[in-house]
Amino acid sequence: MIIVLGSINLDIVVPVERCPRPGETIKGGDVRYLPGGKGANQALAARKLGATVRMVGAVGRDAAAGIALSGLRLSGVDCSSVVESERPTGVATIAVGADGENLIVVAPGANADVSVAHADALDLAAQDLLVLQMEIPAESVVAALTHARARGARTILNLAPAVPLADEVLRLAHVLVVNESEAATLADGVMPEALANTLSRRLGIAVIVTAGGEGAVCARDGKTFAVPAPKVAVVDTTGAGDAFVGALAQALDAGHDLPAGLARAVAAASLACTGFGAQSALPDQNTLSLILGESL
Ligand code: RIB
Repeated sequence: MIIVLGSINLDIVVPVERCPRPGETIKGGDVRYLPGGKGANQALAARKLGATVRMVGAVGRDAAAGIALSGLRLSGVDCSSVVESERPTGVATIAVGADGENLIVVAPGANADVSVAHADALDLAAQDLLVLQMEIPAESVVAALTHARARGARTILNLAPAVPLADEVLRLAHVLVVNESEAATLADGVMPEALANTLSRRLGIAVIVTAGGEGAVCARDGKTFAVPAPKVAVVDTTGAGDAFVGALAQALDAGHDLPAGLARAVAAASLACTGFGAQSALPDQNTLSLILGESL
């Protein structure tokens, strides 16, 4: 089973011609209220590809919670470990430009109440795969990584958004996933391959650096392998990284090796960019197989 410990948000999304500069006010199109949050997006991405997924997180006692959880509930993600907090449901305000790029501000709200106690209480077995990101308190992520190691469960840590964590903590993960700017907070260098290699050697774990429309590169045991991204018509890149992590988790949970998981993750992330919002274009297994050229 895949267990995702992470954020659940209401995304308030405004389409704009281009993202505003600091101090600038611009007009956009009609607002949309959509389910989001890196944790929830990753859980849904894995579920849509066929995994059994449990979401662990927190929402407020408010109307936003219903929207934030709607995608997970409709798709059959187990939400019985999502607790209610006195704080408001997490909200992300997102401007999406005509080129598909975005600008995001997150108000964590209830996500900040996902505590070390929640992490320590995770019901994890050795065959489970735990997926973590950084929109909940860092100490809860550290506790969850420690707990998973003690239980013998595998973990994927997506260091998004980038938060300083000691190498001793990072190496508790089995796979670290970062984009280029997140990777640059951990090591010097600009090229994804070199960054992945440097980090993997330093930490002694598999490190994946995603590179947007260029694809992604993985380094492990002194070897690197890269996967280019398929060309798609980009509508909105919001949540592409989450689609990547969710698809990678599903692939590893289903028994695929890391190179196969990387190929599936890159394809899923590309497909996720073809619709508006973080969750609307997450691919199912058939769609992913089609773009990968697999027989159905
Ligand atoms: O990664 C995309 C997500 O980041 C959005 O859904 C938003 O909620 C923010 O958390």
